[in-house]
Amino acid sequence: MSTQHLDGIKACVFDAYGTLFDFNSAALAASDEIGENWQRLSELWRQKQLQYTWLRGLASRHADFWQVTGEALDFALNTLGIDRPGLRERLMDLYLHLGCYPEVPETLHRLQAEGMRLAILSNGTPAMLAAVVRHSGLENVFDAVLSVEEVGVFKPHPAVYALACERLQLAPTAICFLSSNAWDAYSAKASGLRVLWCNRFGQVRERIPETPDGEIKDLSALPDAVSSPVCGREAMGESPTRL
Ligand code: LAC
Repeated sequence: MSTQHLDGIKACVFDAYGTLFDFNSAALAASDEIGENWQRLSELWRQKQLQYTWLRGLASRHADFWQVTGEALDFALNTLGIDRPGLRERLMDLYLHLGCYPEVPETLHRLQAEGMRLAILSNGTPAMLAAVVRHSGLENVFDAVLSVEEVGVFKPHPAVYALACERLQLAPTAICFLSSNAWDAYSAKASGLRVLWCNRFGQVRERIPETPDGEIKDLSALPDAVSSPVCGREAMGESPTRL
């Protein structure tokens, strides 16, 4: 899969965890207490968190991402035999203060300056997303921060990806969705969005329906992949930004 230029993109919509915000930064920040197992804990926590979202979706037993994240952390701590007073609370609090990946602020500001509409579409609850956005100083960057709580089901349910079109009032083909989670990228494509898979972790392709339109290593390649001489805000009656 190569990176290609996508024409007619009016909005870039980002997955949050793993794409904009580094979920490993929570366990890393508490590595003084966790010790050498911090990476193992982080991996297990993330894997279990995602598994629980899929299982809850299949079983029609939705609970919000804050609860699921806490339950996954309990499983991971228990598996690794880590039992320290206050550590669970510390890690959950750190999940509200995750760092963003290094290229994120500059990339988003460049896209914003070029008139591209920007949004987040995430499993995270509105409060979790507001906290990480604020922590990275990105409050004035997004046109919309969309949580699956609006549809009551986790990704990759098609209702989640449809929410982006509905709220941005755009056709799916006018949206470029970005996720480093391959399953999320493939599923967004299957729901009709245009997709660039931000393959931060150098993973091999998935074997599930539909293939993203292209692949980038990190988000710094995004502006060139979606820029056009006249960008999104023209469609909203605002002054077009000419590059
Ligand atoms: C999200 C998870 C899937 O932000 O990373 O939706």
